[in-house]
Amino acid sequence: MTDADQRGSDQTGTARQRSALITGAAQGLGEAIAARLHAEGFRVVLADLNLEPAAEVAARLDPSGRTARAIEMDVSSANSIRGAFARLVADDGAPDVLVNNAGRTVRRSVWEIDVDEWDAVLETNLRSYLVLCQLAGAAMRERGWGRIVNMSSFAGQQGGLVAGAHYAASKAGAIVLTKIFAGELAAHGVTVNAVAPAAIFTPAMGDETAAAEIGRGLPVGRVGTAEEVAEAVAYLVSVRSGFVTGTTLDINGGVHMR
Ligand SMILES: NC(=O)c1ccc[n+]([C@@H]2O[C@H](COP(=O)([O-])OP(=O)(O)OC[C@H]3O[C@@H](n4cnc5c(N)ncnc54)[C@H](O)[C@@H]3O)[C@@H](O)[C@H]2O)c1
Repeated sequence: MTDADQRGSDQTGTARQRSALITGAAQGLGEAIAARLHAEGFRVVLADLNLEPAAEVAARLDPSGRTARAIEMDVSSANSIRGAFARLVADDGAPDVLVNNAGRTVRRSVWEIDVDEWDAVLETNLRSYLVLCQLAGAAMRERGWGRIVNMSSFAGQQGGLVAGAHYAASKAGAIVLTKIFAGELAAHGVTVNAVAPAAIFTPAMGDETAAAEIGRGLPVGRVGTAEEVAEAVAYLVSVRSGFVTGTTLDINGGVHMR
């Protein structure tokens, strides 16, 4: 894969560097995905609730700010998403690639989830995917090329190992939303896929001792890395993956086989 592979042409036929919007990119999987897509030649926009750490990641990728920058976006608010997206389009044009990754993991027994917490988790983890797929997907359809990847989870297939039913339901919703947008956009050069990780070592997991303990319980004997998830996302947003749409790619060390 070279930079040239990620160059598209605008309506005037001029080659331009493709751009990727990644939500929740201040740390963890989003940070690794932003770094990987930047290395693949994309201009990356790192959206996060926490602007400062996202800006630090962007500055590490490109201190000049030309090919990596951060924007503030609270995905739990449709207004915040719409405002940030409109500013991005005005400054930069609509993104060629969208990675819906921002999410919150809430641990709670199904008996103890109150409806306010249920709504809050669904708003952040699922409604945000709907709003961003609508906004970015419409622009991609018009352009005739685009890639969307929605971060799901093993929890959305089998129920959570640790996370609550609201989290699991949001991640199951991400899988079917992926199929619906994939069907809508398939004829327009736009693919929409989901990724379903489990047990990936990110700040949420704790220290390396805790990770090793979790890893021993998995068929492959270790936890996954954020870079392994980023590798899969890099394929799904590349020009090479145009025949792959509506699928969910499991990245789980063999803990769930379909
Ligand atoms: N780490 C895993 O093992 C694993 C497994 C399955 C699925 N996932 C999914 O992958 C994604 C990333 O997970 P992670 O482990 O990197 O999580 P993380 O908690 O390390 O990072 C999440 C990022 O999202 C941002 N964020 C949270 N709420 C936001 C909001 N309202 N608006 C904008 N940004 C917000 C946070 O600031 C943070 O930068 C999530 O959707 C998660 O559900 C992770």
